[in-house]
Amino acid sequence: MQLPTPSPERLAASDEALKSLPGYSNHAPGDKEFAVLDPSTEERIATLPSMTPQEALSEVAIADKAGRNWAKTTPRLRSDTLHNVYAVLIANQQRLAYVISREMGKPLAEAQGEVQYAADYVRWYAEELLRPAGEYRENPVGGSTILTRRAPVGLALLIAPWNFPMAMITRKIAPAIATGCASVIKPAALTPLTTLLTVELMAEAGVPRELMRVVTTADPVAFSEALLSDPRVRKISFTGSTSVGSTLMGLAAKNIVKSSMELGGNAPFIVFDDADLDRAVEGAILAKLRNGGQSCVAANRFYVQDGIADAFVEAFSKRMSEVVVGNAIAEGVGLGPVINRSAVNNFQHLVSDAIALGAELRTGGQAPEGNGYFFAPTVLDKVPIRARIANTEIFGPIAAISRFSTQEEVVSRANDTPFGLAGYVFTENLDRALNVADELETGLVGINNGVPSNPAAPFGGMKQSGLGREGSHEGLEEYQEIRYYNIARRPTV
Ligand code: SIN
Repeated sequence: MQLPTPSPERLAASDEALKSLPGYSNHAPGDKEFAVLDPSTEERIATLPSMTPQEALSEVAIADKAGRNWAKTTPRLRSDTLHNVYAVLIANQQRLAYVISREMGKPLAEAQGEVQYAADYVRWYAEELLRPAGEYRENPVGGSTILTRRAPVGLALLIAPWNFPMAMITRKIAPAIATGCASVIKPAALTPLTTLLTVELMAEAGVPRELMRVVTTADPVAFSEALLSDPRVRKISFTGSTSVGSTLMGLAAKNIVKSSMELGGNAPFIVFDDADLDRAVEGAILAKLRNGGQSCVAANRFYVQDGIADAFVEAFSKRMSEVVVGNAIAEGVGLGPVINRSAVNNFQHLVSDAIALGAELRTGGQAPEGNGYFFAPTVLDKVPIRARIANTEIFGPIAAISRFSTQEEVVSRANDTPFGLAGYVFTENLDRALNVADELETGLVGINNGVPSNPAAPFGGMKQSGLGREGSHEGLEEYQEIRYYNIARRPTV
């Protein structure tokens, strides 16, 4: 089957966006370089330097110096700067979206949505930072007064994933700038171009370049070891897998570096008999296919109550089968490629294993032939609990459905995992919705809502899904230290 390909106009516009990147090059990579591929075509679209740990430490020196000055600026100046950044990012929405789609593979309309989502974090922090927190307290036994204030934590190391190459950067860098911190930023080697363009635009909008130093490297281990051994680095914010997060926390322990970790998920998506069927199907499509399922909050395990299960599976499978798969920048495409070939191979194994153990394939199940890392939207019903797909973070467009009878049973199955990032509950009964949400061991819960993420909300996980929160005012605190002054008082006459 021939998948949709982009029009010459879109191809030319996206090529132009890539060529506009600072220092753009696309030659065959040498020893100290790496290539960036377009997952829709497997073609090389850029070549970047793989910076050494020594080069990264030079960036630490530049950022550390700039951060000490930035920490002394006023909230008003930092807010105005971030408002400018918001405007410049939105003015460049299409250009950024093309770069996201070409290097990461999400459809162009979704990439435009990511630019808005990413810019919204910048605007949120531009507004939020104008109310700096601090308190005046009386010593309960008298004799002194206590003042508290929030000080910038210091130089931040920001390590971003490939799945939301812009939003995961702004979600970290905006609160760092807002609180008065400098950053050294390491984008994923699979998707560094969006970061380079975002940071370039932020500099054009008035953020000092010395404050945001991007390090591109194909050797993340040496990079992290070097930076987390340097006493100037006071903060790490990482989004990625639990195993890498655990290693980074070990490295951060050496210098007691303040750590925020947004790690793996295994989200249950629970549909009760009393759910609104259309709403549940719409929510399931969003929670499963947003970003091609390549999100830490993607619905990973579908639990559907016996009374609604047949109707849900039929309607959801129909919607999944209608989604158009193709090149991320082609017109009308609803699902682009996944990130690489090994993801496609993994999906094939997961599907075959589930079917061999008795799961029923309702739609999809295969990778189309030809170039590009595509996988059809797939629904598996009656997935047995021992299937590998029921016990792993899929990170792709496959829905694994099983059925349940009682609320107690489904809560116990939903919580039977070391992860706890997101959960979803679909029911028209408010008591049930809140009771189940309270019992789920997850940092966020979508109630009749397939996309709970929001810059104004605290995003983060429980258990092995992470530490700390991003977004909201809690996200600012991740880049601050609470300090207090104890002022002795004595009576005067
Ligand atoms: C993620 O997948 O890590 C982030 C998803 C989101 O912000 O919704």
